[in-house]
Amino acid sequence: MFDPGFLWGAATSSYQIEGAVAEDGRGPSIWDTFAATPGAIQGGDTGAVAADHYHRFPGDVALMAGLGLRAYRFSLAWPRIQPTGSGAVNQRGLDFYRRLTDTLLDQGIQPWPTLYHWDLPQPLEDRGGWPARDTAERFAEYAALVHEALGDRVTHWTTLNEPWCSAFLGYATGRHAPGRRDPAAAVRAAHHLLLGHGLAAEAIRGDDSHVGITLNLTHVAPVGTEPADLDAARRIDGMQNRLFLDPLLRGAYPDDVLADLREVTGFGHVHDGDLKRIGASLDHLGVNYYAPMLVAGSSTPTQSAYVGSPLVRVADGGRPRTAMGWEIDERGLLELLLRLKDDYPAVPLYITENGAAFDDVVEHDGVHDAHRVAYLDGHLRSCAQAIGHGVPLKGYFVWSLLDNFEWSFGYGPRFGIVHVDYATQHRTPKDSARWYAEVIRRGGL
Ligand code: FCB
Repeated sequence: MFDPGFLWGAATSSYQIEGAVAEDGRGPSIWDTFAATPGAIQGGDTGAVAADHYHRFPGDVALMAGLGLRAYRFSLAWPRIQPTGSGAVNQRGLDFYRRLTDTLLDQGIQPWPTLYHWDLPQPLEDRGGWPARDTAERFAEYAALVHEALGDRVTHWTTLNEPWCSAFLGYATGRHAPGRRDPAAAVRAAHHLLLGHGLAAEAIRGDDSHVGITLNLTHVAPVGTEPADLDAARRIDGMQNRLFLDPLLRGAYPDDVLADLREVTGFGHVHDGDLKRIGASLDHLGVNYYAPMLVAGSSTPTQSAYVGSPLVRVADGGRPRTAMGWEIDERGLLELLLRLKDDYPAVPLYITENGAAFDDVVEHDGVHDAHRVAYLDGHLRSCAQAIGHGVPLKGYFVWSLLDNFEWSFGYGPRFGIVHVDYATQHRTPKDSARWYAEVIRRGGL
């Protein structure tokens, strides 16, 4: 069961909700550039206005307070704070996050900032982006500036959101900004993201600061017991989970994953001492979980984000799916949490994202999103079970507080527990928001 200190929260990210992309000195990010590329985003959508949170944050924080949220996970837009990705602070950009943090604290809501949720300053991409080692150094410098400004008000820091996506969707498949299709660059990016995290953790950690990272982890299972299926599961688990967990929690890359990736690139970009810094960096681990993965061996090579593993395909588990087409299976979350407990040194865990998009219908008396309530209920039951098995799970953040810009899918998928009418920016709490408020009030299900 959930203890009284369990942290109940909701999450968002800067580019997905803020809008105001050219205000108060903000520089362009790779997502501004990518969204302006014809064909990159469904419907030609961009984050230019999004949920207009930059202007509406006081109302949004009041909404959070009304729901009884104990914590709010948001991200800071690096290009607001360092418009070119290096050098002096743009105080007006930082002031926005000072005001947001103070407003949250006034309402008794714990600010839970993420330093990087994918909006890299475009000038840094122009100088090589994450495949270049210098970006890791720049990230640590930026982290130190933010920590200096907010360190008296923030205790729990998250460096990166889902470095797997930044590296492999951004640089291998090109489905995310910056839209590159260069598998070797993606592998270098993954390392430099981890290094950037490690360097930032050194810059941030102090008396009261706890440093974490948020990974998108999943439970990977083979369709059957054929050697090709077992190998597919090993490879996907390696790329999705262990490539990040092992360096962070064990201080080394897994040998089998390095061997798989050698077909793509050498590892000259990993310098002596890097893994030591990455391996000493976590006070807590953020877990984003949406769906499990069922995988099979394949005889035809496919191009995917799983570089180095072309003979793998994702199989159908035969379960109901969300509007994203993601299979709904809360048991995957339980398996994942138990696995983290069994296979890795103990570290406090937080679910930093979990939720679902459904085709919500706005009716005259609200948004009756029973599917989302069922999804969240099921996954919270898995959390409770995991805690019962001794998993050190300390908090849970719903993705998302608000409907928002869902990356290359644009504004189509709605993940919010609060509906946003993008024409009027009117917010309507869905049934799931009321349900979640009740869960928080009761301290559990
Ligand atoms: C995660 C992202 C988040 C959101 C959800 C649906 O991968 O971190 O920004 O898009 O998926």
